[in-house]
Amino acid sequence: MSSPLSAHGDRHFDGLADKFAASLYGGARGELRLALLDQLLPEMLELRGQPLLDVGGGLGQLAGWFAARGHAVTLTEPSAEMLTRAREHLAGQDVRLLQAPLQALPEQAPGPWPLIVCHAVLEWLGDPRTALAVLARLLAPGGQLSLMVFNRDALRLSNVVKGNLEKALADRLEGKGQRTRLTPISPLTHGQIEDWSAEQGLMIRQVAGIRVFADYLRQSPERAADRERLLALERRYCRVDPHWRLGRYLLYTLERPSCSPEEATT
Ligand SMILES: C[S@@+](CC[C@H](N)C(=O)[O-])C[C@H]1O[C@@H](n2cnc3c(N)ncnc32)[C@H](O)[C@@H]1O
Repeated sequence: MSSPLSAHGDRHFDGLADKFAASLYGGARGELRLALLDQLLPEMLELRGQPLLDVGGGLGQLAGWFAARGHAVTLTEPSAEMLTRAREHLAGQDVRLLQAPLQALPEQAPGPWPLIVCHAVLEWLGDPRTALAVLARLLAPGGQLSLMVFNRDALRLSNVVKGNLEKALADRLEGKGQRTRLTPISPLTHGQIEDWSAEQGLMIRQVAGIRVFADYLRQSPERAADRERLLALERRYCRVDPHWRLGRYLLYTLERPSCSPEEATT
């Protein structure tokens, strides 16, 4: 069987769109993610209707969110299947769609961009560190990158909670990107994001955890009142240490300084 991985070793989501739509956005967890982003994006970013590049934009939910707030959005996505879904989701909204992987963006959408969104993409790439370097180069001086990554430490904890002790002890946490599995091939740690941001001269301005409690519950809340309580807990603790560190996803605002440290002193 041929590998579903791209030449760069990335998992483009062709063949995964239905499963992704159902399991990540179809249920309560997807609702929670969108409700938290709805609160956090305006808190964590300085939004002034800037043009925005959405990298690996998937089904188009975030592109639609920003377009509705007056941003001129370019959604890029390598998967034709996801792009078709995004086009349907964004019907009637003025969003430019571009079929391209992140690695091609310096040629195909060079910007530089004042605002870039790259959510839940790096963990599907063979070389996320180089990908962050590409994103840094696309950012204008003073530009902001909203980066969300799948948290390796949270994946370990949820494996232990589920009783997958052997897997956790062997630290065999990542997926292989084969067939229709939705376990990311490159789950990331906060330490990696700190190191790789520093390498690129990006400042970490804000950080939050997305779903710091929900994925560890023994039973998902069935009653609407309990779902509301869970959302209230997530909202209250998503930016509080130590809880944010074990969010299923880590959400960052990274900024490219307006001038380099050397320029600032000359
Ligand atoms: C988990 S989905 C996230 C989609 C969307 N950003 C969101 O937050 O819902 C990961 C997306 O990354 C895309 N992807 C995979 N490899 C990529 C690459 N090299 N460049 C850009 N996007 C890529 C996949 O096709 C998929 O749509």
